[in-house]
Amino acid sequence: MSTTWPVVVAEDIRDSITHFAHIDGSVLRALQTVQTKFGYVPDDALNMVADICNVSRAEVYGVFTYYSDFRSTPPAPNIVKICVAEACQANGSDALVDAIRNEMGLDVHAKSRSGDVEAAPVFCLGNCALGPSAVVNNQILGRVTVAKIRAALGGVQ
Ligand code: FES
Repeated sequence: MSTTWPVVVAEDIRDSITHFAHIDGSVLRALQTVQTKFGYVPDDALNMVADICNVSRAEVYGVFTYYSDFRSTPPAPNIVKICVAEACQANGSDALVDAIRNEMGLDVHAKSRSGDVEAAPVFCLGNCALGPSAVVNNQILGRVTVAKIRAALGGVQ
């Protein structure tokens, strides 16, 4: 996916990452800066980071694809992260994922029909004793049910 950024946005990114463009790990830091600022890393940003850090686009793309937290599309306004690691699996995370799909029409790795909610799997939130666990918009939940997720979303679906 390619985007054409307004000049002001491109300059904002350039200003943000130029000051550490020549230190070790600059590509990773540049990509983190872009994603922190915009919620994702647009295709055009890969070229810009390559240019500013003086590396190939392939090198930037390699870093971008190595870390699963980087994303190439804008996130939904509401994010539901469901822990699918072992302790939460033992406490019913698979059934929770099924219930979210069946009762909310929300698949993991997908956005809701409205585009306002997105679900994603995560691997351990450090809340294992209260599994299944989830994070809804940075609010950690334990013993999660569909009702708890709906309440945390405040009616958004
Ligand atoms: S395994 Fe789910 S919070 Fe640790």
